[in-house]
Amino acid sequence: MCTLHLNRREFLKGAGALAAVSCLPVSMVELAFADKKKNFTFAYISDAHIQHIGGAKFVRNWDRGLIRAVAETNLLVPKPDFVVFGGDLAQLGKREELDHGAEMLDKLSYKVYSVMGEHDYYLDLGEYWSKLYGKQYYSWDHKGVHFITLNSVLTYDEWTHERWPSAQQRMLEMAGLDNPNGSPFMVGETQREWLKKDLAKISKDTPVVLFSHSPIQKIYKGWNFWTEDAEDVQALLKPFTDVTVIYGHVHQVQYNQIANISFHSVMATAWPWPYPESYAQAKSHLPKLTVPMNRADPFFERDATGWQFIDVASGRVTVEYNLYNNQNRKVGFDPGKKHPEDAAFQAEDKRIPPQTHY
Ligand SMILES: [Fe+2]
Ligand SMILES: [Fe+2]
Repeated sequence: MCTLHLNRREFLKGAGALAAVSCLPVSMVELAFADKKKNFTFAYISDAHIQHIGGAKFVRNWDRGLIRAVAETNLLVPKPDFVVFGGDLAQLGKREELDHGAEMLDKLSYKVYSVMGEHDYYLDLGEYWSKLYGKQYYSWDHKGVHFITLNSVLTYDEWTHERWPSAQQRMLEMAGLDNPNGSPFMVGETQREWLKKDLAKISKDTPVVLFSHSPIQKIYKGWNFWTEDAEDVQALLKPFTDVTVIYGHVHQVQYNQIANISFHSVMATAWPWPYPESYAQAKSHLPKLTVPMNRADPFFERDATGWQFIDVASGRVTVEYNLYNNQNRKVGFDPGKKHPEDAAFQAEDKRIPPQTHY
């Protein structure tokens, strides 16, 4: 084993190279904040899409993405306070997939908080997932920050309970990215009522970090990068000073600011999606602030997959994207501009233009 002492930027930049020469990526991270006691970090892994083929066989690429994220997260120094898994652990909601994925996540040496994804939900409406991970929406407090997890992938009762001849059919319809038979996601009234009561317990200057699977903002309905009651949830969060929403599902870098809420997406470990405009011949459907990530080839399986390291300082988050085969990114809240911004990104003329595939 070789041991290297690097600062985080070097670690993130060199993670791929380190893996290639079989060194363990040991990182030394220096945080220099005024009130160190309040600052902490957590890690985020999302969208593993573990897929069962038959017997003991699973799609190897998706397995490898999650295994790598777990291994790298376990090696982080300093250790993150906890890990969030952002949903879509399974591909088609099967017990074999959820069990196999859970077995890999069990190797994390931290407490794990789980978010429900539509691929985990629509076979048995979350029953088996709940056996493994418990409640589908909940909150907790950590070092002065109020954390909330919602199940944002619910939809209309008629679509869920009446339209499809079988649970398998329902799952397959919801699993398609650009399937017109899909139905928009929503948080729903029950959870919104719960959220209202939950938020009533904390003061308005408590930093709030909310985890959902789909974005609690409306980006592109054609691909269900969308939550139907996003505005209602945003309204409940409006009285708070510092609010961050972190979501998976989109398998790409996105960030945005709507009123008081900063939004950050996280990457998948399974595969990257192209941005909607490059595939659907749609007009640009990107949150206004987002600088698209460099995509050499959207169909290269490891291009733009990865996991995130998240610093929380004074209730604001900085998301460090650790991308396996792409340029790492760092997006943090800019207090002057009052919205998230890339700490460093390539100038337009230096970016690799996204390829178009139709
Ligand atoms: Fe996903
Ligand atoms: Fe998803």
